[in-house]
Amino acid sequence: MKLAILGGGGFRVPFVYQALLQDPGSPRIEEVWLHDSEPGRLDVMADILATLAGGAEAAPRVHTSTVLDKALEGADFVFSAIRVGGLAGRVCDERVALDLNVLGQETTGPGGIAYGLRTIPVMLDIAHRVRELAPDAYVINFTNPAGMITEAMQGVLGDRVLGICDTPSGLGARVAAALGLDPARVQLDYVGLNHLGWMRRILHDGVDVLPALLADDDVLGTLEEGVVFGGDWLRDLGVIPNEYLYYYYFNRDAVRATLDAGQTRGEFLLQQQEAFYERIAKASGGAAMELWRETVTSRSASYMAEMKGARTGEALDVQSGIDPAEEGYARVALSVMAAISRNEPATMILNVRNGPTVGALPADAVVEVPVTVDANGVHPLVLDQPDLHQTGMMQQVKAVERLTIEAARTGSRTAAVQAFALHPLVDSVPVARRLLDGYIDRIPGVAAVFEPGAPSKK
Ligand code: G6P
Ligand code: MN
Repeated sequence: MKLAILGGGGFRVPFVYQALLQDPGSPRIEEVWLHDSEPGRLDVMADILATLAGGAEAAPRVHTSTVLDKALEGADFVFSAIRVGGLAGRVCDERVALDLNVLGQETTGPGGIAYGLRTIPVMLDIAHRVRELAPDAYVINFTNPAGMITEAMQGVLGDRVLGICDTPSGLGARVAAALGLDPARVQLDYVGLNHLGWMRRILHDGVDVLPALLADDDVLGTLEEGVVFGGDWLRDLGVIPNEYLYYYYFNRDAVRATLDAGQTRGEFLLQQQEAFYERIAKASGGAAMELWRETVTSRSASYMAEMKGARTGEALDVQSGIDPAEEGYARVALSVMAAISRNEPATMILNVRNGPTVGALPADAVVEVPVTVDANGVHPLVLDQPDLHQTGMMQQVKAVERLTIEAARTGSRTAAVQAFALHPLVDSVPVARRLLDGYIDRIPGVAAVFEPGAPSKK
């Protein structure tokens, strides 16, 4: 089978390739096409993957191309993990917001809206190319903001596109490890939108172990979510929120921590990335892989814990509990492919079309829920409905996501202003207007959305 990876120069690609190398099943991926807009990055990545393959005969063949159509043609699976506007775009997403004293974050809050605005037109073009060149392919979308992007692409590709985020399954894996449970016997009752969900039950052989976990501060202290939310708040809520809810429940603290740090996460990563490519240019031979490994392992396991530690003065060194080689991102993607191509049914938490799953949301909204995947596609499980608080937040943020999609597709400034103003983390209409103006000023991809005759409007 052929796998196309869009964003093929990205830092997480080696994890995916490593997982493919270890895949003993049949059919399997024999050909990997890396697509990226920057040829230099593709060369570096091809070099790293060749080192990983170590000349093994069965290793999937790697091709690189800056031509999208070549990568897509006849693909069985398409992974999309692109960053439209690059890390420089992320820096603007975060900075423009932070300068107005609201959360400056990649996917949550105004940063996520700006990111969505410039990414949706590009992803819609890609969806049309996939429909044309690889009509039977499944698109596994990691491109953020993943929920919004998946929903926009479903308008073109229907259920053949599904969105993946590593955070819900990562939480499940960490809980299982912390409690010494066999992950294969653990079922997760989770509901939400991407980066906005709640783990409501953790069933081990059908018995809910969440109440015992919530009562145990020692075990909670080893979990990222336990550290960032604190045992007391988790017990008050009675569920474990997705780590991204830190930005809602501790909004002021997060904004303050970033202001105090004087640097956003994007600014840190941009520096790191520039240093990486500078050093690569001077290195030779298998050095690229060593540099890559050094770079990915020097990223903190939990940025939120780092923020909280900086606020409270505690040394909160949270381990993710997962070997980076088995990074969640790759693991989930590989299970999806195996489930579809080999009819090995698997249950996982994905971003999919809601249908009747959450009654309080539109049927064509994308939600993040447990689903079974098999050769016939994706089947959401029947769920207990979210409570009033969860429903309210999901509805509010879904309204913002849909306004963002509308703005990106039609160029409507009204929809864009509404998206910023109605976001729960933007507390003022004048600030919403300044956000939109700031993003249009600073980010060409956002400005392009509102220009007459922009490609997205054709
Ligand atoms: C998690 C999220 C991704 C997000 C990433 C950011 O993996 O699920 O959606 O892009 O964190 O990590 P970074 O190291 O780029 O801040
Ligand atoms: Mn994610």
